[in-house]
Amino acid sequence: MRVVIVIPTYNEKGNIERLINILEEEIFPKIKKHQMYILVVDDNSPDDTSGEVRKLMKKWKNIDLNLGEKLGLGAAYVRGMSYAIEKMNADILLEFDADLSHDPKKIPEFLEKIDEGFDMVIGTRYSGGGSIPKNWGINRKIQSIIGNLIVKTILMRFWIHDWTGGFRALRSEVFSKEKKELTAFRGYTFQVSFLHKVLRDGFKVAEVPFHFQDRTLGKSKIVPTEYVVDLLRYVITARIIELYHSPFMKYAVTGFIGYLINSITLEIFSEWFLIAPFFAAAFSSELSIVWNFIVNNFWAFGKHRITNPWKILLKFPQFNLVSIGSVVIISTVVFLGTHLFGNNTFVRQVSLVIAIALFVIPYSYSMYNIFIWKRWHISSLSWLQKLVG
Ligand code: GDD
Ligand code: MN
Repeated sequence: MRVVIVIPTYNEKGNIERLINILEEEIFPKIKKHQMYILVVDDNSPDDTSGEVRKLMKKWKNIDLNLGEKLGLGAAYVRGMSYAIEKMNADILLEFDADLSHDPKKIPEFLEKIDEGFDMVIGTRYSGGGSIPKNWGINRKIQSIIGNLIVKTILMRFWIHDWTGGFRALRSEVFSKEKKELTAFRGYTFQVSFLHKVLRDGFKVAEVPFHFQDRTLGKSKIVPTEYVVDLLRYVITARIIELYHSPFMKYAVTGFIGYLINSITLEIFSEWFLIAPFFAAAFSSELSIVWNFIVNNFWAFGKHRITNPWKILLKFPQFNLVSIGSVVIISTVVFLGTHLFGNNTFVRQVSLVIAIALFVIPYSYSMYNIFIWKRWHISSLSWLQKLVG
């Protein structure tokens, strides 16, 4: 396959020559399975990095240069990767820094993972023997470690160890799929937002540990405050959007409307149709249960929708049984609450809210996921999951 190593540069005149020599003389000869190419993505660096690259292009024919306006690291990658795919027919792309911070000897390992079937390979400094430079100042160390921790926690994906790193390999399809969504963050946040979308779309991601070397020539282009603000803005908004579209949110909205249906029809049945309270409550609760079943089936659990009529006949009674469980939980909590703190409106309503928030929601949401729609596969309960059909 055609592999293009995409190297963004801004004032890397000294580094780019050293790096390209190492790649061409020491690394590429060892890679037999793939055809190796280099693309330098330069933003018209004032130190004439591109002039240096043009000299190297005379010596080696597998090098290309893409020039453009300076809009940040992410913008350079989007421009460069598009060029590599469209103009160089790349099958595989590598993200690589010009300053020799990334160990070129590790490149074959990244490509092996792609050969194994992974869609993207992430270089990690935080697991399996990877590391950050010992001589980094305490600030940069803390920034990098805390930054990664915050990203992991907010995005709730803990199995990726290095979110911010810039040493990666990926199939061209992965970039083509995400490209249109990668224009919002032009700076270093590109790395986090790209990886986040790749995971969201279910691509197979592997990690390769490496030692990050501090650069010896030139200086880093990161503007820490701008990076932190951008990064936080991305992870927080991404998380909110994700929550908003999550099955849990849809389940909660459905449940809340179900509750309104229950309480409104209770009044209608009692006031307008003069039905006795016991039956009025039973009818209105059942209406709300029917609502919950239908809407959850189409919306929150739409991906696991039950469509077979026989299956519906089997699942609806089970769903009612789960709902009776919720009623039992509420009655018990309200009973205990009023017993301990007195029977008045305040205690009753607070008990109700506590019962729903602390017990009914975790209980019913788990039951739906495990037994009704079977979105969750729990190995210790698999026999019971089979039993309920
Ligand atoms: N074309 C272009 N345009 N290249 C850029 C730009 C830009 O605006 N900004 C940076 N680069 C190039 C640099 O010339 C270098 O080759 C590479 O991108 C990495 O930039 P550095 O300035 O050396 O970044 P760093 O070492 O501080 O950051 C590294 O680690 C970060 C995580 O800690 C990079 O690997 C980042 O991608 C990574 O997020
Ligand atoms: Mn660097």
